[in-house]
Amino acid sequence: MAKKLAVIGAGLMGSGIAQVSAQAGWDVVLRDVTDEALRRGTDTIRASYDKFVSKGKLGAEEAERALGRITTTTDLDAAADADVVVEAVFEKIEVKREIFGTLDELVKDDTILASNTSAIPITKIAAATRRPERVVGTHFFSPVPMMGLCELVRGHKTSDETLAAAREFAEGVGKTCIVVNRDVAGFVTTRLISALVVEAAKLYESGVATAEDIDTACKLGFGHAMGPLATADLTGVDILLHATDNIYTESQDEKFAPPEIMRRMVDAGDIGRKSGEGFYRY
Ligand SMILES: NC(=O)c1ccc[n+]([C@@H]2O[C@H](COP(=O)([O-])OP(=O)(O)OC[C@H]3O[C@@H](n4cnc5c(N)ncnc54)[C@H](O)[C@@H]3O)[C@@H](O)[C@H]2O)c1
Repeated sequence: MAKKLAVIGAGLMGSGIAQVSAQAGWDVVLRDVTDEALRRGTDTIRASYDKFVSKGKLGAEEAERALGRITTTTDLDAAADADVVVEAVFEKIEVKREIFGTLDELVKDDTILASNTSAIPITKIAAATRRPERVVGTHFFSPVPMMGLCELVRGHKTSDETLAAAREFAEGVGKTCIVVNRDVAGFVTTRLISALVVEAAKLYESGVATAEDIDTACKLGFGHAMGPLATADLTGVDILLHATDNIYTESQDEKFAPPEIMRRMVDAGDIGRKSGEGFYRY
């Protein structure tokens, strides 16, 4: 019998996780709070499968079968018989803790509870349950069907078995995993990009080099697909400032102290592509 996955939250990440999992043979129940959100989620999945089919990367019948494995619901009880639950709701700790507390009452004793949070400590989410050893971070990257990485995050009490089960799940849906052995702010990926963006912004701020030259250095010198300042504009200078501030607050490590220019850009509304101006004009 196929294993059952419950995905909580049918937004950008939840729909992507449901998509790759159904394709890998999981029976998926996708849960959101409104029918409208579920419709949006399944429309996104259907459109993405269609794109893979039109590019010859997925057979039409295979796509139909995968779609057939996804059911949708607004009822959290539908997660009761899941083997794995992945939570991908808004990045709000109270919302996540409430969901984990309810899931803990609902699911089987050996069910793995995973969160796709990009920054909230897994330990804080796990503490809302009576099974912190079965709670783990599965930080997928966007867009999930395209990006190969899943960052597995070990909370303070996550067991080896849970980490192994999370790895089996993520690798089974086609991802390569890295393991974050301690629940540090920003995990590994956000710490790396924050450190790079902070230094790039400092070099830019102090007039050492132009934004274009800093990005060209990273692209041609290190083989990065995109320079750090263009990445900041794409992600949102506000989002990166917030992430970096969090890491700085927790670590007190000066290398994460956001430079003044990032704060002033956010104050001025120059937050990157979504506002039309950031380190570059769009
Ligand atoms: N967007 C990214 O690039 C990205 C990348 C990695 C990780 N993440 C993380 O993944 C999570 C989801 O992000 P997203 O971008 O998919 O968000 P999103 O806003 O696209 O989707 C969130 C969904 O959760 C639903 N939701 C809210 N409360 C709910 C509840 N109680 N039960 C069920 N559904 C509920 C909302 O209706 C919405 O559809 C966040 O923790 C985020 O930090 C995001």
